[in-house]
Amino acid sequence: MIEEIKQIIEKEYADLDYFDYRYHLLPVVEYAEKLAEICDVNKEVVELSAWLHDIGRIKFGARNHELTGAGEAEKILRQFGYPDEIIEQVKHCILAHRGSGSIQPQTMEAKVVATADALAHFDMFLPMLTTMGKGGKGKGDKIIYGWIYEKMERDWNKKILIPEAMKIAEEKYKAIKLVLDDKSSEKGERR
Ligand SMILES: [Fe+2]
Ligand SMILES: [Fe+2]
Repeated sequence: MIEEIKQIIEKEYADLDYFDYRYHLLPVVEYAEKLAEICDVNKEVVELSAWLHDIGRIKFGARNHELTGAGEAEKILRQFGYPDEIIEQVKHCILAHRGSGSIQPQTMEAKVVATADALAHFDMFLPMLTTMGKGGKGKGDKIIYGWIYEKMERDWNKKILIPEAMKIAEEKYKAIKLVLDDKSSEKGERR
């Protein structure tokens, strides 16, 4: 059944944001599967949650996307006849996947998904540094560095909830921080 869910998600992303699919969603799914192997969790819940965790952001925008996403995921899972128990667990993973959200992960499955989301961000920050400033949205370098810095600190401090993931993220965190500190000091903007 999960294959059909994947196809729906793949289509949504292909139509709306392929870059996000390739450089965020797929890494989240890969990290989630890897962490699910290490931790004793319900793999079906983790896999479904990883595929569906940002569906709210893709369809309705970033604001409150944990809430819109949980609703959208429920609709999709009901369509495929998933039992209430699985739906509730997946919804919790989605509601708790943001370090900035008000709902904290209460289950191991939710911790795996939030951690996988953060790990995928660490892989994306350096490419973001080279592409974001060219977005033509009138954002200066200082704003972009500041935005990445804050997001990375939040990921590092609040979303890496599994010790094995710390090891994966640590070197990347240090490297990105070094680059950002360097970039800020270049312009006399050290935070
Ligand atoms: Fe998200
Ligand atoms: Fe995400």
